Amino acid sequence: MTKNLFTSMQEAIKLKDHWIGNPASSHYPSEVDTQFPAASMDAAQTEIQSWPTYQTTALLELPEIAQQAGVAQVLYKDESTRFGLGSFKALGGAYAVLQYLATRVSEKLGCDVTMESIRLGEHKDTVGNMMVTTATDGNHGRSVAWGAQLAGCQCRIYIHKDVSLAREQAMAELGANVIRITGNYDESVKLCASDADKNGWQMVSDTSYEGYTAFPTQIMSGYSVMIDEILEQSSTVPTHVFIQAGVGGLAAAVAAALWSRLGENCPTIIVVESEHADCIIRSLKAGKPTPVDIKTETIMAGLSCGEISLIAWEVLKRCAAGAVSINDAAVPPAMRYMASGDAANGTKIEAGECAVPGIIALLASVKNNELSKAFALDKNSSVLVFGCEGATDPELYSSIIADEL
Ligand SMILES: Cc1ncc(COP(=O)(O)O)c(C=O)c1O
Repeated sequence: MTKNLFTSMQEAIKLKDHWIGNPASSHYPSEVDTQFPAASMDAAQTEIQSWPTYQTTALLELPEIAQQAGVAQVLYKDESTRFGLGSFKALGGAYAVLQYLATRVSEKLGCDVTMESIRLGEHKDTVGNMMVTTATDGNHGRSVAWGAQLAGCQCRIYIHKDVSLAREQAMAELGANVIRITGNYDESVKLCASDADKNGWQMVSDTSYEGYTAFPTQIMSGYSVMIDEILEQSSTVPTHVFIQAGVGGLAAAVAAALWSRLGENCPTIIVVESEHADCIIRSLKAGKPTPVDIKTETIMAGLSCGEISLIAWEVLKRCAAGAVSINDAAVPPAMRYMASGDAANGTKIEAGECAVPGIIALLASVKNNELSKAFALDKNSSVLVFGCEGATDPELYSSIIADEL
């Protein structure tokens, strides 16, 4: 049964497009540090790791994938358990909300206010009328709604027409007022920004653009907690990272954190996108941010973004060694394979739709002579991939695992 799953996954694996670039230079350059300061990552790590419910997520070995790919090791960072929210996004949005509120309350009261006191709801009276807002495919909004609920402020979330009902409900259950628009993700970002502007609400977006970088910087800094954990958990430093991207915030945070921590030992960074939302490959090929008008929604909902984040662009144009795009066909069999228990010596892994692009892209890249040569993927490679979500839409996840999709 599992053998069939693995075979169908391999048959479904097709790269749609790729780009080959330069590996990062030996040190984290000042242009990148200005956009995305290493000090901001340190601050986020200290704060988030002090939260009482904080726990390091698992780093698992996937020996069968390593064997199939002909590499020494594949490591899988499993974010399905992060703060009970089901994805790495729990590290970003909530942190940015708490930091914003601590600053606002401190200004209002004229004294120092800690994020801890905000998180414990000690300033509910002061923050009760404040509104934070964002646009989301689901997971980032859930993190923002969680932060707002902890602090006791108001929260308004914009979702596009194809965000699943389960993801909408998860945010509503955290107290957010969820607005569904008729357009796509990029249109939901624009509407959120203009409504926030008109009404004096604070937008807490995970994507950045000219004039709006402070919040995305904090959010991406939160993601860097994963790198801190991985470097402590693993006795070996990975040689390669396959990292999935929507607007590129996750990929850039992972790349920048590894780069700032490891310098010339920074692994080869390969970005993975959906063929339907390949704004990063297009941007890297064109040498400037280049949007894509999304015509088809990918099953990997969190990756369905048509415009690269400005900070992500600044980081990835300097340090991505490559980018590949994949089709959707291998996603359901890869999820079933992870759930079967065979991937990690009997540990059943809850890998959502966005959690498997790394292993898919690795298996596809080693079959492609040009790519495996350009990325120097060989029997000595130690590859890190990110299982960035669990069953964030439980119904969809169950139907995929039951082999109905
Ligand atoms: C589960 C998951 N993985 C990956 C991503 C992509 O992250 P980014 O948009 O920062 O590239 C998202 C974005 O929402 C997501 O929800």
